[in-house]
Amino acid sequence: MPDPVRPTAPTTIPTARRRLLVTAGPTHEPIDAVRSIVNRSSGRLGIEIAAAASRRGLETTLLLGPTALDPPVDTPLTVARFRSTADLSESLDRLWPDHDVLIMAAAVADYRPRAPVETEKIPRSAEGLTLELEPTPDLLGGLAGRSRDDQVLVGFALEPPDRLAESARRKLRRKGVHAIVANPIRTLDSERITATVFFRDGREIAAPEDVSKRHFAEWLLDLVAQIG
Ligand code: CTP
Repeated sequence: MPDPVRPTAPTTIPTARRRLLVTAGPTHEPIDAVRSIVNRSSGRLGIEIAAAASRRGLETTLLLGPTALDPPVDTPLTVARFRSTADLSESLDRLWPDHDVLIMAAAVADYRPRAPVETEKIPRSAEGLTLELEPTPDLLGGLAGRSRDDQVLVGFALEPPDRLAESARRKLRRKGVHAIVANPIRTLDSERITATVFFRDGREIAAPEDVSKRHFAEWLLDLVAQIG
């Protein structure tokens, strides 16, 4: 395995790739009219990436899930909200053809209640309740399979430290993306991050240790700009 190294001098995203699509935050998969299956993602990293891209003058669209954090207000960017994996899938299908780079920071559910979802509140029952879950479609992998050659896709992998690298390399191949940002689970819902970026060409570049997500966002955009 190559030693993790720092990226070379910062560059800007090539002018041909100026339209950035960023997804951020958790999904809520409805069980009934009032309950959902959720995860602990805050969306902070994706929000910082979208803000940093917009400050660089890139045309930026942020697809933001149900989170308590607000999208940035001091930079010009387009924000659209999603709740479920199905909403996000629909937005990505519609918007991806008009973008050049996808940064898929959203924490997409792996399973959701099998349809049809109850439209009423399921009543309490002494027998308990069994939910049947179905796997969600792999949105990133699906998009990668139908992208143009000039489009760049970056995914994330949230993993326990002992299988971080192995899992990131596997996801890189399975999803067919240009890079995977691998970060340990403690990063979830935190203001700071330690991460390594695994590239399709075999490079593995570690970010500076334990940096703020704002700092990391700038660092990552410099790296993404170098993808050929
Ligand atoms: N992702 C996606 N669609 C899903 C699940 C995940 O597009 N249904 C994206 C995430 O946004 C992230 C990347 O795929 O950029 C990796 O997500 P992760 O949940 O770590 O990977 P999975 O494909 O779900 O693999 P596993 O659960 O086996 O780790």
